[in-house]
Amino acid sequence: MCGIIGYTGKEKVRDVILDALELLEYRGYDSAGIAYGEKEGTVSVCKCAGRVADLRKKCGSLGQDATYGIGHTRWATHGGVCDLNAHPHQVGKVTLVHNGIIENYKELTKEYELENELVSETDTEVAAALLNHFYKGNPDEAITKLVGVLKGTFALVMLFADQPGRIFSIRNVSPIVATYSEAGAMLASDVTALCRFTNRYFVVPEYHILELLQDGVRLSTLTGETVEPEYQVADWELNSSEKGAYPFYMEKEIMEQPDAIRATMEGRIVDGFPDFSKDGLPDSVLKNCERICVVACGTAMHAGLIAQSLVKSMLQMHIDVELASEFMYADPVVDEKTLVVAVSQSGETIDTLEALKYAKKKGATCMSILNVKGSSISRESDYVLYTNAGPEIAVASTKAYTTQLTVFYLLVARIAYIRGKMSEDEVKSYIRDFEQVPAAVEQVLANKKQIHLIAKNVITAKDLFMIGRGLDYALLLEGSLKLKEVSYIHSEAYASGELKHGPIALITTDTPVVALITQEKLKQKELSNIKEVRSRGADVVLFIKESLQDPTTKEYETVALPNVRDAFMGIPASVALQLLAYYVSADKGYDVDKPRNLAKVVTVE
Ligand code: AGP
Repeated sequence: MCGIIGYTGKEKVRDVILDALELLEYRGYDSAGIAYGEKEGTVSVCKCAGRVADLRKKCGSLGQDATYGIGHTRWATHGGVCDLNAHPHQVGKVTLVHNGIIENYKELTKEYELENELVSETDTEVAAALLNHFYKGNPDEAITKLVGVLKGTFALVMLFADQPGRIFSIRNVSPIVATYSEAGAMLASDVTALCRFTNRYFVVPEYHILELLQDGVRLSTLTGETVEPEYQVADWELNSSEKGAYPFYMEKEIMEQPDAIRATMEGRIVDGFPDFSKDGLPDSVLKNCERICVVACGTAMHAGLIAQSLVKSMLQMHIDVELASEFMYADPVVDEKTLVVAVSQSGETIDTLEALKYAKKKGATCMSILNVKGSSISRESDYVLYTNAGPEIAVASTKAYTTQLTVFYLLVARIAYIRGKMSEDEVKSYIRDFEQVPAAVEQVLANKKQIHLIAKNVITAKDLFMIGRGLDYALLLEGSLKLKEVSYIHSEAYASGELKHGPIALITTDTPVVALITQEKLKQKELSNIKEVRSRGADVVLFIKESLQDPTTKEYETVALPNVRDAFMGIPASVALQLLAYYVSADKGYDVDKPRNLAKVVTVE
C-alpha cells in the first residue's frame, strides 16, 4: 500500500512526480505529498490530506524549478488522515517517504529519545528522525545503520539536504522498481509509473542501496559492493495504463476482457491441447502432486473457488482454497506432495506472499498465477503462470479475475489429460468450446446497456442478496464483493439452498435479490429458491444462461447470458456482474476506481 516515486532527469521534475503519483494513486489515496530539491540544494515539502488533484492545487506554482524530487500517495496505517501525517516527513537534514510498516517504531522512539523531534503520529517519521540521528555526512553509512535497527516492511526513498541531486532508496519486502532512460533516473512502487518513459526496468533487490543520479543509477550492497541492475522488459504498452476515452479504469478494464483472455490463452493452446511448456511448467509437477492448495485473497481467492469446483468435478482430486491471511495460523495440511498455487494480480499482496513462503518451508511445490511480472510472489515461486491481462489500475479487480479463471480452465484440463481423466478427444472438444469464451464475453459487453438499465433495480438498496448454487454460488461471492466494494451496498452472496436456514429472515420488499442460473443440472432447484424469496416480497433480477430460459423464468427481470459450455459460464457471468456493480457505482456518482478505505495493492498484514 502507498505509492512512492523518485525522479531526477531532464523533464519537469515536479510534473513528472505529480503525474506518476496519479498513476500510483490506486495504491492509496487518503493523502499525498512531494518533496523537491532546487539547484541551490534546499529541499521543500508540499503535502496534504486528500487526492493527488488536491496536492496539485496546493502546490500551485511551487517546485517549478525543481531538479530532483520524491513523492508519496498514502493509505493510512499509523495515524489518521491529516496533513501532518501525510508523507514526506522531514526531520533535520532528512526528507523521506515510506511504504510499509515499521513495527518497532515505539521502541526506537524511546531507545533513541526521538519524542521531541516528532510532530506526526506515524511510524514513518520515526524512521526519518532516526536516519537524521545516524547521518554524519555519509548517506550509505546512515542508511545501513537505519535498516540494521528497523523491524517490519519498508520501501524508503530519502533525500539529504546537503546531498543535492541525489535520491537514495532501500527496501525490505515492500516493492521498488527503478530505471534509467533518456528521460532520467526514476524509481517507483511499480512499473506502471515508469511506463510513460520506458518499459525497461529492474526490481531493486532487498537490502541494497539504490541511488538515482542525473546521469545514471548506482546499486550497491550494504557492504559497499557495486551490483549491476538486472533489467527486464515490461511487455505492457506504454499507454495501456491510461484511461483513454473511458470515464473510469474499471469500465476500460471490463471492456478489455476479450483481448485479455485471448492474450492469456496465447501460446498455451498447442494443436488443440492446453500446454504450459512455454511457461516452463513440466507435466511431472502436475502429475506427481497428491493435493492442491490455493492461497489467495479477495477476488483472487474467488478465482481459486472456481478452480476448486473444476478440480473436484474434472479430477476428483483433493483441493483446498485458503484465505492467505488465515493460512499459516490454521495449521494447514501442506507437505512435499502438495502443489500450492498462489493467485494474485499484483504479486505483492503480503498475506499471499507470506502464505507461499510458509508453504515453501513445509516442502510444498510453489506455483503462482500472477499478473505483474517480476513481482515479489514471482520471485518466491518455483513456477509462475502469468495472466497477461496488462495493467489493472481500478481497485476493483475485473480482467485480472477472468484471466486467472482462464489459466485455471486450461490448467485443470492439462492435469485431467495427463492424469488420464479426460481422453484426447474430450480435451480437444473442451478446448474448442473454451475458445468460444472471448466471443461470449463480447456478447455480454454488447449487452451493457441492458445491464445498465437493470442496475436501476438495485441502486437504492441498502442490503441485497445474491443467490445461486454450485459454480454460480462461487461466482456470486465475487459478484457480491464487486458490488459492495464499489457501490457500498451491503451485498451478501448466499448458496440459495442455505437461505432457509437463517438469512431468509432478512428478505423483505426492500431487499432485492440477484439470482444466477448457468448450470442446467441446478436450474429447477434454483428456480424454487427464487420463488421462495419472491413470495416474501423480494424484487428479483435474474442472470440466466440463454438456453436455460423458459416461460417460468420470464416472470423476472432477466439478463440473458450467452451460451457456452456450463463449466465455462463462469467468465461471461462474471463480466455481467462486474458491469452491474460498475453501473450502480457510476450512477451513484462515486469515484468508481478508488472506493473508500481501499487500496489496490495490499502490502500490510
Ligand atoms: C478486488 O476487487 C479487490 N480489491 C481485492 O479483493 C483483491 O483482489 C485482493 O486484495 C488481492 O489482490 P491481489 O490479486 O493483488 O493479490
